[in-house]
Amino acid sequence: MFIRLMLTLLLLVAGHAQGAEQSTVLVTGANRGIGLELAGQLKAAGYSVIGTARKPAGAKDLKALGVRVEQLDVTDAASVAALAQRLDGVAIDLLINNAGVGGQGVNSIRELDVDAMAATYAVNAMGPMRVTQALLPNLEAGSGRTIVNISSVMASIKNNWGGAYDYRASKAALNMLNSSLAKELGKQGYISVVLHPGWVKTRMGGESAPVEIEDSAAGLVKVIAGLKDADNGKFYDYQGKPIPW
Ligand SMILES: NC(=O)c1ccc[n+]([C@@H]2O[C@H](COP(=O)([O-])OP(=O)(O)OC[C@H]3O[C@@H](n4cnc5c(N)ncnc54)[C@H](OP(=O)(O)O)[C@@H]3O)[C@@H](O)[C@H]2O)c1
Repeated sequence: MFIRLMLTLLLLVAGHAQGAEQSTVLVTGANRGIGLELAGQLKAAGYSVIGTARKPAGAKDLKALGVRVEQLDVTDAASVAALAQRLDGVAIDLLINNAGVGGQGVNSIRELDVDAMAATYAVNAMGPMRVTQALLPNLEAGSGRTIVNISSVMASIKNNWGGAYDYRASKAALNMLNSSLAKELGKQGYISVVLHPGWVKTRMGGESAPVEIEDSAAGLVKVIAGLKDADNGKFYDYQGKPIPW
């Protein structure tokens, strides 16, 4: 609650709350974890929020926020197309491609299921492109023109400490896809970034993660609120620090 209040004040000071009040954000994978918290904090900051869930019926926490809840499986072309149809004519200012999976958790080439890598790519790399492509008319209709792809420090080739083959590769692919997106859409005034949320206490991050969900989301929202044209194509963490590719 305190963090949400501070964030609203921060956005007011930064001059973004005025825009936020008329702005619409869509967050994928918003039924739990970082996506749920982002949806809550962005609503508190004045955004009109659309939160997606694979199974909306079970998305009690998301519904409790009083936001618009929509079904979406980012790997399912029919689900993505149906979402785009339901949102026909709805302007979206900010798209947050947050849905992700941790992959196989395999640290050795000896254990890696190469064929199963495709499933991790389908969510983490292809998913954000599928959703962005389908919702481009909505983004065109909005004035924010901001695309945030939630990546990971584990995508960094420079900082790789090994392991997590498929997860790292899928997020590195996402980084490259974002780079191309930024080059293409940047010419039309879009800002597309990849952001690392920190190592966060979620189902994916686990109990020993040092960053609380609230702090991660508050940091991400602050970074998003401060995005400028020069940030297009960049890779930052939730505290706004650049991450080496
Ligand atoms: N937690 C960390 O430490 C950490 C660190 C770096 C990056 N990240 C990234 O941050 C993002 C959020 O992670 P989190 O920690 O909040 O994870 P989480 O608690 O496991 O939540 C993942 C979310 O993604 C959704 N999702 C999974 N597959 C999907 C699909 N095919 N279609 C639509 N939604 C799908 C899940 O929905 P269901 O409930 O239906 O499964 C859930 O809402 C991910 O992109 C993750 O890679 C997390």
